[in-house]
Amino acid sequence: MSQFCFSEENEKKFNELKKRYPDIKAMMLPSLWLVQEQEGWISLDAMKFLASKLGLSEADVYSVATFYTMFKLEPKGKYHICLCKTASCKLRGSEAIKQKIEEKLGIKPGETTKDRKFSFEEVECLGACGNAPAMSLNDEYFENLNPKKIEEILDGLE
Ligand code: FES
Repeated sequence: MSQFCFSEENEKKFNELKKRYPDIKAMMLPSLWLVQEQEGWISLDAMKFLASKLGLSEADVYSVATFYTMFKLEPKGKYHICLCKTASCKLRGSEAIKQKIEEKLGIKPGETTKDRKFSFEEVECLGACGNAPAMSLNDEYFENLNPKKIEEILDGLE
């Protein structure tokens, strides 16, 4: 039995989504998004909840949640930085951005600051190659980055 449950609002959203997706397996991704929106990440407990709610096996939910890198499987910082490490961004200076983030926040990719304000990870292409180097910060994209710009962005966060 799982401890997780949807908020009242997300329970309504879930029921609305069910009307749009007659095949219950197609509900998997939007349901995982709802969990992540609600909690900031997707716990094993929440996966059990979804498995039961969708009538699927826990392995089914786990395999999807762990396949897509956009799903967070552990708590992240208030500000979660995803810096692109793929070729276009590398060629256009993402390494200098990475060094600036490490220097400013005192954390390496895969880590979270002790106050849980920032977490940082390197990811594959964000689809913004034309404006490399790029990163996402929670749901917002930042492009054409340079060390000065990243410093200003980080300094501007409360
Ligand atoms: S290579 Fe960085 S956004 Fe595509």
